[in-house]
Amino acid sequence: MSGHTDMVLVNEEGIRIDGRKTDEKRNIKIEAGVLKNADGSCYLEIGKNKVLCAVYGPRECRMRHLQDPTKAIITVKYNMETYSVSDRKRPGTDRRSVEISKLISEALSAVVMTELYPRTTIDVYIEILQANAGTRCAGLTAASVALADAGIPMRDIVPAIACGKADGKVLLDLNKEEDNFGQADVPIAIVPSTDEIVLLQMDGNMTREELEYGLDMAFKAAHEVADLQKDALLRKYTNKKKEASE
Ligand code: CDP
Repeated sequence: MSGHTDMVLVNEEGIRIDGRKTDEKRNIKIEAGVLKNADGSCYLEIGKNKVLCAVYGPRECRMRHLQDPTKAIITVKYNMETYSVSDRKRPGTDRRSVEISKLISEALSAVVMTELYPRTTIDVYIEILQANAGTRCAGLTAASVALADAGIPMRDIVPAIACGKADGKVLLDLNKEEDNFGQADVPIAIVPSTDEIVLLQMDGNMTREELEYGLDMAFKAAHEVADLQKDALLRKYTNKKKEASE
């Protein structure tokens, strides 16, 4: 966000370095139920980001002091693999991963019917295999598919995507260069049926008008992401039915 570059991020025709238009998101691929031994799972790619998510639970919360007698707690572990970024990342938990885990847990808690499972924990493991900006959105998008795949009752799915600004232009779904050398990054996650916002952060600077324009693009794109999430779940369910009848 604070970096400087001579590189042109958006050219005069409004085309970005990866060939996208300003309001275009990266290609998204979502697959549900990719891990046999997890209760639910999801593999997701958005552009060069690659994310794997596994869900276990609801199961008894062993750590008594964390138990909630009224509802389940959602424990998220967001982890960036050492080989996921260009400079080798030091393995293990750091401040950034703790913060991202917490905000993903809070976003998911808004839709998961945690009140149905008191005293339990729902464990969500998010592994960032390859990162190219937007991993918290990719991780959250994958996590809500994995939770649905685990059969955990939810009010809705949670799509997440960022808008932002680079080269003075408002953009949808920033890539690494745009994130590094741009002026603003605004990840957002919504509940599509109500358009409620469950995650919103802003790093950098934008005018109110630019932010409103960016949020409009992000909402529209988030609804499209939700359709892809539902498609992935439907595909998994249809394949399973086919396998059962064979
Ligand atoms: O990934 P996200 O945009 O949610 O979070 P960020 O903290 O804004 O990081 C932006 C990008 O910087 C990541 O997606 C990675 O590509 C990169 N990054 C990195 O190269 N090394 C790190 N230790 C952290 C982030």
